[in-house]
Amino acid sequence: MQIHLSLDGAGGLGQRLYESLRRALIDGQVPPGERLPSSRVLAAELGVSRRLVVEAYERLVAEGFLGGATGRGTFVLRVPPPLPREAERPGPGPGAHWRPLPDWGGRRAPGRHNFPGGVTDRALLPWAAWRRAMMAALREASRDIGLYGDPRGEASLRLAIARYLGYSRGLACDGESLLITQGAQQGLDLLARVRVAPGDTVAVEEPGYPPARAVFEARGARVVPVPVDDQGLRVERLPEAASLVYVTPSHQFPLGMPMSLERRLALLAFARRHDALVVEDDYDGEFCFEGRPLDALKSLDREGRVAYLGSFSKVLHADLRLGYLVMPPGLATALLQARAFSDGSPPLVTQRALARLMIDGDFARHLRRMQRLYTARRTRLGDALAAHPALWTPLPQVAGIHVALRLRSPVADLPARLAAADIRANPLASFYAGEASLDGVLLGFGVIDGEAIDRGVAALAEAITR
Ligand SMILES: Cc1ncc(COP(=O)(O)O)c(C=O)c1O
Repeated sequence: MQIHLSLDGAGGLGQRLYESLRRALIDGQVPPGERLPSSRVLAAELGVSRRLVVEAYERLVAEGFLGGATGRGTFVLRVPPPLPREAERPGPGPGAHWRPLPDWGGRRAPGRHNFPGGVTDRALLPWAAWRRAMMAALREASRDIGLYGDPRGEASLRLAIARYLGYSRGLACDGESLLITQGAQQGLDLLARVRVAPGDTVAVEEPGYPPARAVFEARGARVVPVPVDDQGLRVERLPEAASLVYVTPSHQFPLGMPMSLERRLALLAFARRHDALVVEDDYDGEFCFEGRPLDALKSLDREGRVAYLGSFSKVLHADLRLGYLVMPPGLATALLQARAFSDGSPPLVTQRALARLMIDGDFARHLRRMQRLYTARRTRLGDALAAHPALWTPLPQVAGIHVALRLRSPVADLPARLAAADIRANPLASFYAGEASLDGVLLGFGVIDGEAIDRGVAALAEAITR
């Protein structure tokens, strides 16, 4: 009997021999009942010491692949059943819809000119304060008994966030209704699990935030894009069947306008009439440039129809993977269960460190500093953009860390031109589920500053005119 063994690869010779034999057994090269060559023969064939072969055989006997009896040699006992071919393997369940997400705007790979949407600069984090807070959280954790955490998240952080929402977003909530999540994205996922069944109708903004759309599609929902105008979502265009409406009312993603009060009230009225859930994603409303931002839509909700999502991805950094969800009372039990099934509870030490950062005032100081810095960047970007009035008009932005540009004339091969000029920025078309009705580009200014802004804008102007 012939076995094909390759002793290539990393690790010691004994380990490679063992792995190669094990692979041959799993691949079914030798059927059950078959006798393997004696250790002496195999060692001679492979040019290795007999001891290595004996040891490999012994390990495989201990694992149950091989059996042996004195005088009868070593036999194959069991091989795993052959794997089904790719096409026969189980796929997603009925109605589910999975597809790969693009890396939009170069959020994962920097280029020469970096305007990725919604990414903040790691170097600007309040590292000294964070280090102190982490050390304190570690010391505290080392003194705990060490039980599993609360699925809602740490009480100290929930309290700190509840206070923050009260003064910064006009949102009265207590720590009890808060769920700490791993980014707004987990909040969306949990909401979709407990509130969306395959075939349900979910309305999203058009253009909108692709990862939100993707979560609902993966649940098997019928996702209906609803257009926005200068007052935000066109509520009168909502499909009657919508049982969930996802919106970004503080700062529409990606175009930037806030949702008017009239539309907010109309949306709440729709939710009441249709017993629908409104998901408010308030991802970057903190960075406000003109006066005080409108309070959260959730602050108008007296019937518990709005689920409010917040994130630390813009105010600190997406690496932290920390966000929160103000749970509507009717969904709290289901959401807590879904969270417990998903990841149990959020990571303890980062939560405690963040709570400390908020309680000690370092977080508020960081926000004030970033507000000043982003205002300066936005002005610089505005000035650089204003030098090319024939090419584009920036859409008005009240808040946030990006600007959407409307191009004066369409550029058919915009993605290719951006790539050729090594510009990381997103064509607005990438945020539309259907045909884009607006030609433009989204420019994030979270990681770009000073002259790099001017150079980036000049490169963009050249890429577009060339
Ligand atoms: C519309 C919108 N919602 C939420 C987020 C934040 O998601 P997360 O908190 O999961 O990082 C982003 C980030 O880009 C966003 O653009």
